[in-house]
Amino acid sequence: MSPAPIPRPAIRVDAVSKRYGRTLALDAVSFDVDEKELFALLGPNGAGKTTLMHILCTLLRPDSGAAQICGRDVVKQSRAARRRLGLVFQEPSLDDRLTVRENLELHGLVFGVPRKLRRQRIHEMLALVELTDWTDKPVQMLSSGMKRRLEIARALIHDAEILLLDEPTVGLDAQSRDRIWSYIRRLGIERRITVLVTTHYIEEVEGCDRACIVDHGKVLALGTPEALKQEYGQQILRIAPRSEEDRREILSRFADRLVSEAHDAILLASDDAFAETVFADYGGRVRSLAVERPSLATVFLSLTGREIRDQAAGARERTFAFGKRGGEHTR
Ligand SMILES: Nc1ncnc2c1ncn2[C@@H]1O[C@H](COP(=O)(O)OP(=O)(O)O)[C@@H](O)[C@H]1O
Ligand SMILES: [Mg+2]
Repeated sequence: MSPAPIPRPAIRVDAVSKRYGRTLALDAVSFDVDEKELFALLGPNGAGKTTLMHILCTLLRPDSGAAQICGRDVVKQSRAARRRLGLVFQEPSLDDRLTVRENLELHGLVFGVPRKLRRQRIHEMLALVELTDWTDKPVQMLSSGMKRRLEIARALIHDAEILLLDEPTVGLDAQSRDRIWSYIRRLGIERRITVLVTTHYIEEVEGCDRACIVDHGKVLALGTPEALKQEYGQQILRIAPRSEEDRREILSRFADRLVSEAHDAILLASDDAFAETVFADYGGRVRSLAVERPSLATVFLSLTGREIRDQAAGARERTFAFGKRGGEHTR
């Protein structure tokens, strides 16, 4: 009997660096994504997520390091690597003037999907993202959330084994975001697709198999949400002082516990006994006092000293939120 084949990662990122002028967007980033895994790349705006996605989908070359898609090098075997990918870009890339079906047909044609199979996949994917009723409507009639769903459907009209989604939920309302995530999970389970998804919404990572936390182009931590919480997720006491005087007193008294100062609040590393002491001493003198249990949010805080929600929304997110119309094809 021949030995069982050694499983290879669906995606391999090996010491990838990329610089734009003086900005080091990616600094020796390495990780593997296993087959059928739902893997999240979590990081604030400017972390380097889109740059890495562009390298993986062969749009951009790394300065150094290498990346592979299903064992194909993204530079030396870019066509072969590209064919295995379904892509949802951060920027909208549908043709607004075409109908829902026409957008999908066009994609199927470009990828050489035979007519019968194309019809069948279009039907299946529109059902999956619940857009069947919109099949013959022009894309410009769709809401931002529906357009994102259509982009997910489009990504899988050809034989993609790996789906790359760059901030698929950015700027959408909570309900649309939940829906997008339910489709992403269903794709993993029903279609057995490997999914690499980027986000800066920390709570979205909770349901993923593993997450890689990136900041300033560097990998800070990688693991299952549970493992990350166990390793880095400390309990935090969030204190909002009433006066500048109280703020200074608290800061000097608990300097050794300071994790971050944010939004008029002081965040201290805490445990139950410490929290009780602070409640007793300051309970009546502060605007609010709250214990935050270890979570992915406190993981990010511990690793970076910042809260991910402190990051101002990028220009793209703002335009997205106000319903910018999709641009022309970018591929
Ligand atoms: N085309 C570009 N030219 C110059 N700087 C860029 C370019 N694209 C991205 N950057 C910079 O590289 C860093 C990483 O950007 P990006 O990959 O878009 O991060 P993210 O997607 O995590 O927000 C940021 O500092 C950004 O300003
Ligand atoms: Mg980005």
